[in-house]
Amino acid sequence: MNLHVAHDLLACPHCGGALAPVERRWACDAGHSFDVARQGYLNLSGGPEPANADTAAMLDARARVQAAGVFGFLSRGLDAAVPLVGVQTVLEVGAGTGHYLAGLVEDRPPARGLALDISRAAARRAAKAHHRVASVIADVWRGLPVRDASVDVLLCIFAPRNPSEFARVLRPGGRLIVATPTPDHLVELRERYGLLGIEDDKQERLRERLAPHLAHQDTVTLKLTTTLGTEVLDDLIRMGPNAFHDPPRPTAPEQVRLAVSLSTFLLALA
Ligand SMILES: C[S@@+](CC[C@H](N)C(=O)[O-])C[C@H]1O[C@@H](n2cnc3c(N)ncnc32)[C@H](O)[C@@H]1O
Ligand SMILES: [Zn+2]
Repeated sequence: MNLHVAHDLLACPHCGGALAPVERRWACDAGHSFDVARQGYLNLSGGPEPANADTAAMLDARARVQAAGVFGFLSRGLDAAVPLVGVQTVLEVGAGTGHYLAGLVEDRPPARGLALDISRAAARRAAKAHHRVASVIADVWRGLPVRDASVDVLLCIFAPRNPSEFARVLRPGGRLIVATPTPDHLVELRERYGLLGIEDDKQERLRERLAPHLAHQDTVTLKLTTTLGTEVLDDLIRMGPNAFHDPPRPTAPEQVRLAVSLSTFLLALA
């Protein structure tokens, strides 16, 4: 039960007031209150899970891929993009398993993390990711249940973005780090198995949408070419939205390219 690490971070999704723990619920002064799940996360979504939320099977596949170290190159890139000192609060939106967030806070004690995701299966996993990571269910599109100017580093890794909310929760001088797949990310798998495509203008659109709110600092492209066995290939395919289309199972090992853009944006000092 790690929710206490977010004691001064969470805001009521209805009125924006500070949320504080009251027995097995969290409540604001206006009387809105929210259940803590048995598995240790707080549900601030105020509604049912959407049909396209990541499923437990997708989260299991993602966890196996991460445990196999396939995305170790991304963890190292994130580590280089986040300062080692002076970081107290890291928020990850669309956090999934909480894998990257846990790695960053582990190496920056006593930094604490808040994992936010719309999927219950993700929130369950993130609640166990690290003893200094709290886990909440919320919808990025509907606004972040997080207090103004409270976050030093905000991570958005293959996840939905809400630029005005990102700027609101970052403290002046705080940074947003966005990871997006480049057009050649897993291109071999996409061609062979007819998987969902990647839109080519993602980087340009990302910068355009963030420009009114945050200053672009830099973008690096992280790449890895590796040969993976059929089980990891299958998990790579099924850990994302392709799982909803039931693509064919890989039958042979394959050399694949992984390529991710990592962009850093800063909130100007007041
Ligand atoms: C492709 S996964 C990435 C997960 C994690 N960042 C990682 O890289 O392992 C996208 C995540 O965003 C979550 N997500 C999708 N729409 C969301 C929304 N509107 N609000 C919050 N989370 C959302 C999904 O449930 C999923 O866990
Ligand atoms: Zn309230």
